[in-house]
Amino acid sequence: MPIVSRAPERTEGVSRSDTVTEMTVSPARRAAFDVLLRVERDAAYADALLHSPALDRLDARARALVTELAMGCLRRRGELDFLLEKRLRKTVESLDVEVRTALRLGAYQLRCMDRAPPAAAVSDSVELVKTARKRSAAGLVNAVLRNLPPLPEGEDGARRSHPDWLRTRWEKQFGRSACRKLLAANVCRPPTYVRAVKGFDFAHTMRELSAQGVALEPTGFPRAFRVAGGAVANTRAFRGGRLVVQDLSSQLVVPLLCVKPGQRVLDLCAAPGGKARQLAEEAGCAAAADRSLRRLRTLRRLGSRGLLPLALDAERPLPFRAAFDRILVDAPCSGTGTLARNPEIKWRLKPADLHELHSRQARILRRALDALAPNGRLVYATCSLEPEENEQVIERVLAERTAWTFRKALDRLPGRDAGDGFQAWLICRDAA
Ligand SMILES: C[S@@+](CC[C@H](N)C(=O)[O-])C[C@H]1O[C@@H](n2cnc3c(N)ncnc32)[C@H](O)[C@@H]1O
Repeated sequence: MPIVSRAPERTEGVSRSDTVTEMTVSPARRAAFDVLLRVERDAAYADALLHSPALDRLDARARALVTELAMGCLRRRGELDFLLEKRLRKTVESLDVEVRTALRLGAYQLRCMDRAPPAAAVSDSVELVKTARKRSAAGLVNAVLRNLPPLPEGEDGARRSHPDWLRTRWEKQFGRSACRKLLAANVCRPPTYVRAVKGFDFAHTMRELSAQGVALEPTGFPRAFRVAGGAVANTRAFRGGRLVVQDLSSQLVVPLLCVKPGQRVLDLCAAPGGKARQLAEEAGCAAAADRSLRRLRTLRRLGSRGLLPLALDAERPLPFRAAFDRILVDAPCSGTGTLARNPEIKWRLKPADLHELHSRQARILRRALDALAPNGRLVYATCSLEPEENEQVIERVLAERTAWTFRKALDRLPGRDAGDGFQAWLICRDAA
């Protein structure tokens, strides 16, 4: 299904009755609708769809609107459904996917955006269900959106926009106050962070960025900056690889390994390659392994920067003859620390998934430990907040061995700390 379909510019206005006049939909709203449908129908990731070439035909403003609409609907889905259900005789989930998507899209614009014209929000949602061959639901969409109640005051919105099981476990784990801040952070648009790549004159880059209208703020961490304004992706520094977009917490993982030039370095779950690039900058060269050939393609494009991409399954015996001085295991995980950036995760994840992930992570960590040299260092990291994927993996795997030491080296929680939620353990192998 195309993400963007060609549509002539819309005509503003909305019918005053349930008999709705045919009109065209704004390209941005249609693209957002298509993204949301693919997230629901195909279990696709919104962030990947929003960066796909299918959106290239939209100008920067329209793309920003598509992102705001799609991400906003996913972040605040529970809150939107609560409002919609006040005007429906059934649950939002029981409606056809096209109908509930059009309703959420309209409700988000009407209640969560200041600048969206209400008439256009309603009429485009009506038109979207019609073009999705759900013409019989057009009247319902029109009536529900026209009579939508206001958002209730207070904090319940963020609570409603998380599944009960996840909220309940976080309340127990972090306490009510930290949990409240975490939920609030998850429903907001997260800041963009960049990393200044080692080996370039950063003062020169800053002057150039400023001339191109991009403002960066220091974060207190070396080389890490928050984008305070402007479009980084359009700059020479970004296109020339002097600046990479990378979440702040993600940037803090590789320094834990204290990599020295010339060391043998392995990133075992490397794609799309943010941390592998950092490793290669420090060591001069790094082996970057991943199971996904598709995801490794991004990494292959970076091959000239000292990365050696390898396709392998890290749950199976590793194919290396010599041991590594430094190993990073940035394990595949639930991603519950990244819900502001990947909001669909919270609607898909089930408690049982954590046990499955735990087993995979333990298998990968065992293989990684086998490949570490005496006196070597290994960092196990996840962007998950769940103990099953973090301390329980470390404790289980290290209980099987002697002469290893470990400590928690990174603990980042959205709402308390800037950036995504991340946890990392530093594991050292004592010399025999
Ligand atoms: C959290 S992501 C890694 C992100 C990466 N380190 C970065 O900074 O860009 C986890 C990666 O593990 C990979 N993966 C999952 N299972 C794997 C396995 N059995 N062996 C190797 N890689 C695996 C996934 O394809 C995914 O790219």
